[in-house]
Amino acid sequence: MTARTTRSAAGPAGTAAREPQLQQTLTEFLIDEQRKVPNATGSYTALVNDIRLACKRIANIVGKGQLVDIHGKAGSVNVQGEAQAKLDIVADEIFHRTHLRGGTVAAMLSEEHEHVRPVPPEYPRGRYLIAFDPLDGSSNIDINVSVGSIFSVLLDPDPAAEIGPEAFLQPGSRQVCAGYAIYGPTTMLVMTLGHGVHGFTLDREIGEFILTHRDMRIPEEASEFAINASNSRHWEPAVSRYVDECLAGASGPRGRDFNMRWVASLVAEAHRILLRGGVFLYPRDERASARKGKLRLLYEANPIGFLIEQAGGRASTGDSPILDVQPQGIHQRTAFVFGSRAEVERIEAYHRDHNAKRYDAPLFGARGLFRTTAGR
Ligand code: F6P
Repeated sequence: MTARTTRSAAGPAGTAAREPQLQQTLTEFLIDEQRKVPNATGSYTALVNDIRLACKRIANIVGKGQLVDIHGKAGSVNVQGEAQAKLDIVADEIFHRTHLRGGTVAAMLSEEHEHVRPVPPEYPRGRYLIAFDPLDGSSNIDINVSVGSIFSVLLDPDPAAEIGPEAFLQPGSRQVCAGYAIYGPTTMLVMTLGHGVHGFTLDREIGEFILTHRDMRIPEEASEFAINASNSRHWEPAVSRYVDECLAGASGPRGRDFNMRWVASLVAEAHRILLRGGVFLYPRDERASARKGKLRLLYEANPIGFLIEQAGGRASTGDSPILDVQPQGIHQRTAFVFGSRAEVERIEAYHRDHNAKRYDAPLFGARGLFRTTAGR
């Protein structure tokens, strides 16, 4: 490589000799992003900095494992009726505290709290709303499998009004920033500011996130699907058909073999799909408790959906784009299907087909492979 090309890749002339060894930090990335916006106040950058700090604090605690006494059940349930782990509560407190003072946020919404929490009057009110699942997949904590934090940022629709839950009832297409931190073998922060998806790996020795995955794109060819197959007897016909066809592999209508995955940690599934392609389904099903799906729209499906769409994939309810859903409640649940675009479009087509007609699994008699009831 000539000196000329090295210099142009590294940045301003004169810095070429030093910079090629240094990877870009999240701080530098945010400075570059802020410079692209004329008249930026720095508030948005400050908000992302607080998200970064909250995730580093949570990563630090999660990484200590059983060395600290904050594992196991807290003995309480959250607004969803799910048992809270002690770490759910600690992570929620970290997210909340880290965003209180900065003057960037007007109110916060968390999976762990029934009500929206406005920033109290002793602190300045910011322009943004943040919704978060502070510790997603926390049932995996005790077995040392990846967990994560998910966040979604919206603009406060009416900065002069008293803030309540309705401020958060905006479709996902209005998000201005979204992402997750994954606490796995390495801690990564993966986010979109609305143009592309970028992944940053935490360098624990210098305490900074480093840009390691610029402009992540979901591979178009997918041979992995993720679904909780223990619910198969309750699935709708479209989902049974899709899964049956994947399982039939090379000898079935898809003409190739598929692999099945289920981590039970949405962040871990989204991360794998961003890097390797594939599809994730948590569909609604025919049980009364699951008619609306399981995952939460505002702080699970919308932020993951925004990332997936920004990376060239598709995110859907199974029928239509997730980001177009008009929320009706702050803890609303939804069916959620996302991943490689062609696979999600296929699942949407099957929903259109089987809304009108039953599914008679041709490969397995009158039933899908897992099904115990007659095909509907
Ligand atoms: O919503 C929490 C969550 O743990 C997700 O991270 C994950 O995708 C899903 O629930 C797992 O659901 P199940 O326990 O039904 O496998």
